[in-house]
Amino acid sequence: MKGFLQLQTTIRKCLFPAAGYGTRFLPATKAIPKEMLPVLTKPLLQYGVEEAIEAGINTMAIVTGRGKRAIEDHFDISYELEHQIKNTTKESFLTEIRKVITNCTFSYTRQIEMKGLGHAILTGETLIGEEPFAVILADDLCDNADEGVLAQMVKLYDRYRCSIVAVEEVPLEETNKYGVVAVKKMDDFGEVDNLTQSNASALSEEMLFQVTNMVEKPDPKDAPSNLAIIGRYILTPDIFAILKETKPGKGGEIQITDALLEQAKQGKVIAYKFRGKRFDCGSVDGFVAATNYFYKKSEK
Ligand code: G1P
Repeated sequence: MKGFLQLQTTIRKCLFPAAGYGTRFLPATKAIPKEMLPVLTKPLLQYGVEEAIEAGINTMAIVTGRGKRAIEDHFDISYELEHQIKNTTKESFLTEIRKVITNCTFSYTRQIEMKGLGHAILTGETLIGEEPFAVILADDLCDNADEGVLAQMVKLYDRYRCSIVAVEEVPLEETNKYGVVAVKKMDDFGEVDNLTQSNASALSEEMLFQVTNMVEKPDPKDAPSNLAIIGRYILTPDIFAILKETKPGKGGEIQITDALLEQAKQGKVIAYKFRGKRFDCGSVDGFVAATNYFYKKSEK
């Protein structure tokens, strides 16, 4: 990971919905939260937290559920373990997680019933309050050499001050796995004045769009495009009031996609084709691909 430099930013909090059952990884996830499955030696959730830290965020809000206590223990000191390995070569294995614990605060709330991603995010309102915030779905594991995906999005938020979803092109036959957006060209793409030099030069007109419609997990024949939302969002706090009014949608669940559509109707949602790689670690194939990728990277 890249340093722990605290950037000046308006986004201070990151929400991690982490209450899901992880049924695709049974039996591994019978007693272990899916967010704690490791890619190499690091749990998925720690990658997400480190991406948030890199984006200048140090307040982590985690929505958990029953059977997720390992998450709280992970982001805490383990006195017995630390005592056992003190002054041995093994101590260095804890360097990264110690930095995370020292640099951040973690707060938790439980989602009592699994009623969908929108409901999980609404459950987090008590930890977020009345401010814009980031959301990371830890099973979408992202990596980018020069700047993390969330850091890219936080910079965009500083300029546009509206909700932002990260999108990538997926094969049309896979649209039924994602929230899918319809987009148009940004009206005011023009100046890039208050973006930093690096971000401005890396940004092109093909990366930023205004969302005009969005559909949760459409059949390919009904999909408005092949631009799929991946697990990185920046949300303005009015999303909570909208979520409270949002009726169950696809799969009988309260969908964040449906709530975002209300903001999009007012022209207040940007789709951002991010720079970097993303692995769907909610699937075995994606998890294996991520493991191979990070293993090769670690050998360099
Ligand atoms: C959720 C969202 C979906 C989004 C996806 C990204 O679906 O509902 O809109 O595209 O995350 O990973 P899930 O993967 O939880 O079924």
